[in-house]
Amino acid sequence: MRRRTLSALFTTSRSMFSQANSAQFNAKEIVRKDLERVTERIGKELDVCRLPGLKHASQYYFKKQGKLFRPLVALLMARACNKTQLKSNSEVTEEQLTVAMVSEMIHTATLVHDDVIDQAQTRRGQPVSHLVWGTKKSVFSGDYILARSSIALSRIGNPFVVELLAHVLDSLVKGEVMQLGTRETTADRFAHYMEKTFRKTASLLALSCQAVALLAGTSQSVSDLAYQYGRNLGIAFQLVDDMLDFVSTSDILGKPVAADLKLGLATAPVLFASETYPELDSLILRRFSQPNDVEKAWDAVKNSDGLQRTRDLAAQYTSDAVTCAQGLAYSHESALLIALVQEILSRKA
Ligand code: FPP
Ligand code: MG
Repeated sequence: MRRRTLSALFTTSRSMFSQANSAQFNAKEIVRKDLERVTERIGKELDVCRLPGLKHASQYYFKKQGKLFRPLVALLMARACNKTQLKSNSEVTEEQLTVAMVSEMIHTATLVHDDVIDQAQTRRGQPVSHLVWGTKKSVFSGDYILARSSIALSRIGNPFVVELLAHVLDSLVKGEVMQLGTRETTADRFAHYMEKTFRKTASLLALSCQAVALLAGTSQSVSDLAYQYGRNLGIAFQLVDDMLDFVSTSDILGKPVAADLKLGLATAPVLFASETYPELDSLILRRFSQPNDVEKAWDAVKNSDGLQRTRDLAAQYTSDAVTCAQGLAYSHESALLIALVQEILSRKA
């Protein structure tokens, strides 16, 4: 049973991998120039710093480029919304490009802080910021990235957009704090986990999508679709992330596996597994802090349907995200938003 479940997961992943690769290639190709402008503008935004130590520390994570997933989604959504408005020019505006840039800067700032909190060792296959720059400078560099992103955001001059992105910060902090706790009962625990997941991961995608829709001048119903698309995509993304922590390898991920358990975190695979193995409850409540807790939880997840159910739940959210994208006027970009969603389920890192 255990072997069948895992091999089914990998077979599905493998068969979708080639399509998924081409989907992301197409999506990136269509916004390639804008993505280049995003990275170039981030460089300039941080380059103004007159304190060399702070400047170089804040530029560190941007040197080894990440997936640029958040700006990619925001830029595609911007173009899809511009087309929904039947504008003669559907090109991304400077303001929309700024939202895409700010989304990457906020994301990176949170990673710098998160790596300190998690006492991580590697990120994207290289030593984490605080091991290179020291904890204090690393924390300040996260603050500085956030400060520069706020300045860039204010230049848009749209208070509604500023408010949306400010809500992202509110959400991220609360999500991270929620992750420190859990709930007594199984049902409450799962609801807590899902709310944490929205706040920590999906809120940035949801509100960035809503912001670019607003800047396109779309109706309320279209900006709601944009928000819901980002929300569903983000939740699916995190569920798959939580699954990869059990099925991927550290080489592929660029960070250690079973990291969540070692940090005391009970994610969807463990929460589902606890329905089959109620003895996991006490381990979850003590955050896998006693000898062999991590190993016991790992085995329980692998021997249960926890991974398959996590994948099924992610598939439900991807399906909802597809429905949202289908609600936008049909365009090459809306089709690519759908292709991106499908890629989530087959991603390896
Ligand atoms: C990565 O989680 C962390 C986040 C997505 C959000 C972190 C949020 C904060 C530190 C609080 C807000 C901070 C600011 C600057 C507003 P993970 O540990 O699950 O992922 P990982 O495995 O990639 O480290
Ligand atoms: Mg972390």
